[in-house]
Amino acid sequence: MKFFNQTILVSLMCWGVACSPSADKLITVESPSGNNLITFFLTDAGEAAYLVAHNNKIVIDTSYLSFEFKGQPTLQQGLITAGQHERTFNEQWEMPWGEQRTVINHYNELKIDLIEEQGLNRQFSIIFKVYDDGIGLRYFFPEQTNLTEVMITDENTQFNLTGDHDVWWIPGDWDIYEYLYNETKLSAVDATSKRNHPNLGQHNYIPENAVNTPVTMKTKNGTYLSFHEANLTDYAGMTLKVDVVKLSLQSELVGSENTDYKVIRTTPFSTPWRTVQIADRAGDLIESNLIVNLNEPNKLGDVSWFKPTKYVGIWWEMHLGKSSWSKADGKHGATTENAKKYIDFAAANDIGAVLVEGWNTGWEHWIGFEDREGVFDFVTPYEDYDLEEVVRYGREKGVELIMHHETSAAPRTYEQQMDTAYSLMQSLGIHAVKTGYVGKIIPKGEYHHGQWMVNHYRKAIEKGAQYQVAINAHEPIKATGIRRTYPNAISREGLRGQEFNAWSVEKGNPPDHLPTVAFTRMLAGPIDFTPGIFNIKLSPYKEEHQVNTTLAHQLALYVVIYSPVQMAADLPESYSGHPAFQFIRDVGVNWEQTRVLDGEVGDFVAIARQERGTRKWFFGAITDEEPRELTISLDFLDDNKNYTATIYSDGDKSHWNDNPTDYKITTADVNNASSLDLKLAAGGGVAISFTEK
Ligand code: NOJ
Ligand code: CA
Repeated sequence: MKFFNQTILVSLMCWGVACSPSADKLITVESPSGNNLITFFLTDAGEAAYLVAHNNKIVIDTSYLSFEFKGQPTLQQGLITAGQHERTFNEQWEMPWGEQRTVINHYNELKIDLIEEQGLNRQFSIIFKVYDDGIGLRYFFPEQTNLTEVMITDENTQFNLTGDHDVWWIPGDWDIYEYLYNETKLSAVDATSKRNHPNLGQHNYIPENAVNTPVTMKTKNGTYLSFHEANLTDYAGMTLKVDVVKLSLQSELVGSENTDYKVIRTTPFSTPWRTVQIADRAGDLIESNLIVNLNEPNKLGDVSWFKPTKYVGIWWEMHLGKSSWSKADGKHGATTENAKKYIDFAAANDIGAVLVEGWNTGWEHWIGFEDREGVFDFVTPYEDYDLEEVVRYGREKGVELIMHHETSAAPRTYEQQMDTAYSLMQSLGIHAVKTGYVGKIIPKGEYHHGQWMVNHYRKAIEKGAQYQVAINAHEPIKATGIRRTYPNAISREGLRGQEFNAWSVEKGNPPDHLPTVAFTRMLAGPIDFTPGIFNIKLSPYKEEHQVNTTLAHQLALYVVIYSPVQMAADLPESYSGHPAFQFIRDVGVNWEQTRVLDGEVGDFVAIARQERGTRKWFFGAITDEEPRELTISLDFLDDNKNYTATIYSDGDKSHWNDNPTDYKITTADVNNASSLDLKLAAGGGVAISFTEK
């Protein structure tokens, strides 16, 4: 039992009779440095409640925890404590690849065993882990007579907030995360107004005024909170229902139209962790390792068969309409000849891999087909694409292929073919696949983020691992740090990617998109955003559309956005002979360490990362529609070393809309006592590579 805090007692009393336990009934646990403190108690009615304080200020006020089941009474009141266990844990573990090599996992844990005093005497435990960068809580249901097969209709985990915070949110859609972030007060969250959003694809479903996670907030005192979940395993994804009057959040699990429950499990089982990252600086949210730390250690052992890599691919040309996935309309992109052209380009530019979309039969029946079962075949190429020859040619040039499996959201078809498809990949020495789940899920009534699909996505990761295949899923379930346990879950989409810029003017991502994503979606894990568009106005293919950033902003994304597969997304002809392409050639994809130097959610972010192996430093900063001047101290550079900084910045007249390709390359002699004054244009950015002299 840790120290007892006066502020908390006052707060508890304010909540009235139902929850005014005397101080000796409060159980507390604090983080290793003492900055975060959780208080747990049972109300007089025997209901479980908790609070969270940060630096002696309450950030989550008294919040209750309960479960509703099919065929059983609600598990809420009449609980008594049957046990209480505390422990401290401190370890260091190594990421096989990642934002940093070494991760410290240091927390204090409190496990409270609860039992219903009467009736069914059902039991469960609440486990709290308190870190310096936030907290996690999960439920464990042990094996017991009156709870065997459990059908959860609702999990009611509350987060009762202390004010009308600024919130960066996307709607709690059960099918898709590909929204622009909204910045509003908590009281103004109106997710259901996004129903039938004209800018989205064919599938979206927002039943409640709920938000998806990670959802990030800033309090009046300047504390940052981000709510998410960790280790989403055999459970439904969690959205957070917003009570705009009480200013609170409550878990709302994604359901299915095929069942009258949302989760089915057999005891014993644990739920995912419900997480709150807590920071005094926006950048600390990005540096936080809470989500990966709340996952189990690597189960796969040696995963050196996968190597972090940059890649190019037959991809953007489809989104530009230059070529197509399907062979039907005479401009098929995935031909042997075209693939070889990309391989040549990759080989000439130190790019390790080539993605080829549209290589396999079935694309004629892709979008718009109701019955998509059995349409795609993941082993049979179109006749103008010689898979073996492309692989052979790549090997000759030292370039690997990245496989593509668009499932068209027909996961049963995909599951039937997983073994053959992954074993074909293994036999060809292909170690990564980009998967896709465009469309409404078949079977009808399932949603992308429900338990049924969570299990499907996991199956792909587990099966993939058996065949040494790494997965980069598009239209995925959210990242919840599973990459710690299954490092072959290398990256994913799960946000509004670059492709939206090619689709239409209204769909384009505005300049503040990525300065928001860095503090929201990126807290969940690696992002396959596909940066690096140089032909910003998309000429001559889609001249009425454009990317809404400067070219320097596109370069900076290679440092700002983390992914162990990082695409150079534009066409080879946009890069050939372009001096700024040197940065993409040079920049790392796998990091020894990461420092978030500065930033504000939705405004700008500045990150330095040191490459593993070479120990070279790279820097990237991006801004929203506001031009910005930043002074960056280079104290992260190694002691007693002199460097040449090659600075790719916006030109003097640069502007995301009026003059996006205006950029300049300058150099400076620097060391770790230097600082740099940087100017970012509206929608602009800066990218720097540091070379030791
Ligand atoms: C959606 C993915 O996000 C995109 O990258 C891909 O090209 C298409 N699906 C086709 O699979
Ligand atoms: Ca997508």
